[in-house]
Amino acid sequence: MFNIEDFDIKLDTKNLGRNFIYSEEIPSTNSFLLNNLEDFNHGTTILSEFQQEGKGRLNRPWFSNKGQNLTFSILLAKNINRYNPNHISLAASLAVSYAIENLFQLKTNLKWPNDVLINNKKVSGILLESSSQGSEITKIVIGIGINVNQTKFIGDFKLQPTSVKFELKKEIQRERLLSEILNVFENLIRDPKECSKKVLNDWRDKCRMIGEPVSITIGDEKKYGIFYDLDANGFLILKSGDKIEKITSGDVSIR
Ligand code: BTN
Repeated sequence: MFNIEDFDIKLDTKNLGRNFIYSEEIPSTNSFLLNNLEDFNHGTTILSEFQQEGKGRLNRPWFSNKGQNLTFSILLAKNINRYNPNHISLAASLAVSYAIENLFQLKTNLKWPNDVLINNKKVSGILLESSSQGSEITKIVIGIGINVNQTKFIGDFKLQPTSVKFELKKEIQRERLLSEILNVFENLIRDPKECSKKVLNDWRDKCRMIGEPVSITIGDEKKYGIFYDLDANGFLILKSGDKIEKITSGDVSIR
């Protein structure tokens, strides 16, 4: 059982997680914040012990055992049009990565666009969704799934999953990890300009694939080349021969 007091006592934010909603079971924490007509405060965070219809990137499902992991979403509703949503999504993966490193001295790295890896296995994934009115984004919902204390993963995975417990061989306090992620994330996105610069630089430092030959699967299509860089929007620049191409979504693997 998630102990809200243990979480709250380590929370050091102004907004993120200050309005905290705890749920035993829900279709999806992202859908809850996106579709709810209630005007939740900026920073509202909902955690659910189980999602019946957890959503992953590229219309995939996100499965997570009940009560063992962290599946939560954060609502951003203030000043969001000053941010590039891609930078927010990269910042969320950095926040998870730094929080795990700060608390558990585990080395993590990042896989484009926003997977967090330990020993080349996936420990966390992020799904950013937003709603707009005309050209204005009215809310951004950042959904984060982290394998924390689950150690058995059944199914066919594109990338082998792992968990913090599996890597560290000990039970993890989920409350402390969640507060650390929100603390780090709020700091990273405090200022839109600083956020863009820092996030792109830090993200590059944590991605082992930059400069490597990769294959990218986009639906039924496969592309090959060198993962040349991230562009200013956080898209992947693929170089093959003289050809430079911008990739906006897909699954990347080292060749
Ligand atoms: C991925 O495919 O890697 C992204 C997974 C994102 C899962 C999280 S769990 C909390 C939030 N609610 C959802 O339905 N999805 C995200």
